[in-house]
Amino acid sequence: MVNFTCYNPVKVVFGAGESARTGKIVKDLGKTCLVVCYEQHDFLDSLLNSICSSLEREGIRVLTHYTVTANPLLSPIHAGIEICRAEKVDFVVGVGGGSVMDSAKTIAVGACYEGDVWDMFMSRHDSSVRIVTPKAALPAVMIPTLPATSSEMNNIAVVTNDKTTEKSYLQSDLIYSRISIMDPEITCSLPAYQTACGAVDAISHIMEAYFNCAPDTPLQDRLQEADVVTIMDLSKKVLADPKNVALRSSIMWASTLAWNGWLQCGIAPGSPMHQIGHVLSARFGVTHGATLGIIMPAFFRYVAPQRADRFVRLGEKMLGLDLSNMTELEGAYRAIDAFEEYIASVGVQTKLSQVNIPESAFEDIANDVVRISCDANGNLPSNPPVGKEGILAVLKLAL
Ligand SMILES: [Fe+2]
Repeated sequence: MVNFTCYNPVKVVFGAGESARTGKIVKDLGKTCLVVCYEQHDFLDSLLNSICSSLEREGIRVLTHYTVTANPLLSPIHAGIEICRAEKVDFVVGVGGGSVMDSAKTIAVGACYEGDVWDMFMSRHDSSVRIVTPKAALPAVMIPTLPATSSEMNNIAVVTNDKTTEKSYLQSDLIYSRISIMDPEITCSLPAYQTACGAVDAISHIMEAYFNCAPDTPLQDRLQEADVVTIMDLSKKVLADPKNVALRSSIMWASTLAWNGWLQCGIAPGSPMHQIGHVLSARFGVTHGATLGIIMPAFFRYVAPQRADRFVRLGEKMLGLDLSNMTELEGAYRAIDAFEEYIASVGVQTKLSQVNIPESAFEDIANDVVRISCDANGNLPSNPPVGKEGILAVLKLAL
């Protein structure tokens, strides 16, 4: 283990029907709120009406900002910040998946900063750009509609700058939501593909930590294995029985725990697979969970010769495989094959060709990853370190 600070101040109100009580739950946060949601929000209209009505019943003035797209963009966030300033908004409410929640968190912190909120994003990991540290933020309330990102309970927001096509992240304890209202009933109408991509994304958050971490963390290893097994099991059951609130409840909480910090204590995780996936989303608009469905198996195959024992453990503990009659490396590749089979079985893409990304784009993709996410030595924060040649090799393995 390495030294760590564990801090998570989010008040979680969890359970079927809780979103209808939003007004009562958040009434102490102020008199004017900005509700943030998707540009295409028809499928959430009854939920939005219920939430806005409950806020208004408590005497709260409700402004709306329904502008968010998948892979959220910076421009609508700037517009939301302007509304907060002009209308003296007291708090921000995000109703949606990771894109909406990350936008709402960024609006909340951007409203308290007179410069461009992009100054706070880690658009380069070298010392050539000064990253502004946030000093204040409006209170934010998250009402997640898609179990996936843990944004409802973590201090991270990921946004694409639509002027530069850089997808980068902001990390600050100030962007923890004040209250997250997690109502699994909302998720019963989620389409199968979104449900599956959310599950793959949540699993990827654990895999990032499982492979790119400090050694000798037996408790965290076992917690991560339990969460992956749980999400894999529940994702299949939910896809077969989508209206089952009990199943939806369990996968929602399991997904939140995947990246809310508790499983990452003492292991100093990196997120190299996300850094490659972000470029695929920024350049080609690929759904976030699908980018991880594609990159994870390829990245695993690239590092397997150096981490074979870890992949054997993955196969045995997360997938229940008997690998005892194989060499360690054979077992590693068998485990990776089985993991890829799980991703495909829930209907998520596992190859770049399935999302129409050609080999001719690899050089540009790799250059973006290096420019945006690699350290001063040109490496991703991974174990083992992976530089540009490695990124190109991973992309080839993902074809
Ligand atoms: Fe993710």
